Amino acid sequence: FCRVPLSHLISLILLFHSEATGSPLQEKPYKMQTFRIWDVNQKVFYLSNNQLVAGYLQAANAKLEEKIYVVLTESPGGMFLGIHEGKLWLACVKSGEKNTLQLEEVNITDVGRNKEEAKRFAFIRSQNGSITSFESAAYPGWFLCTESEGDGPVNLTNKPGDTTKITQFYFHADQ
Ligand SMILES: *[C@@H]1O[C@H](CO)[C@@H](O)[C@H](O)[C@H]1NC(C)=O
Ligand SMILES: *[C@@H]1O[C@H](CO)[C@@H](O)[C@H](O)[C@H]1NC(C)=O
Ligand SMILES: *[C@@H]1O[C@H](CO)[C@@H](O)[C@H](O)[C@H]1NC(C)=O
Repeated sequence: FCRVPLSHLISLILLFHSEATGSPLQEKPYKMQTFRIWDVNQKVFYLSNNQLVAGYLQAANAKLEEKIYVVLTESPGGMFLGIHEGKLWLACVKSGEKNTLQLEEVNITDVGRNKEEAKRFAFIRSQNGSITSFESAAYPGWFLCTESEGDGPVNLTNKPGDTTKITQFYFHADQ
């Protein structure tokens, strides 16, 4: 507890103070955390023609790398994954027999209040050593993937063992 920064203590005190004095508390937006992601072939995420792709960025383009904005869901291991400062969110949608990844511009705090609406945005994170995988909560058995060869769209696959796809990522809190 001694390591809690002073600014946090101050906001805690302010929070208790505003509760004690009965002033209306604003509805708190979900807490967002920023992560860096890259696949096991070292490809990073970036936007190209409004599509999320994984690839190798030249040093000059390094700033195009998308950080992942994470909001935890209520179920264990569940999270929403956003990019672009948390303005665009990864959603799993059905197209015919297949499931595909789509970016949607939503307010994730609002979406999170509606369980049905929230489901397509939710991923279950699983960890094996330093490797992370993300399974769609709406479509169990479908995993976030990149192409194993060259730059290509970030998408979903139901064949995580397929050598043409990568479903294993490094995923670390951004400092
Ligand atoms: C994503 O994968 C689905 C198959 O699950 C495929 O139909 C779709 O074309 C892929 N999307 C992209 C952008 O590659
Ligand atoms: C999202 O909605 C919540 C409550 O409806 C609001 O407090 C918050 O400011 C909104 N966030 C953005 C980024 O618009
Ligand atoms: C975790 O990774 C190890 C190798 O790094 C592998 O042998 C093992 O099967 C993996 N476990 C799961 C549950 O995927």
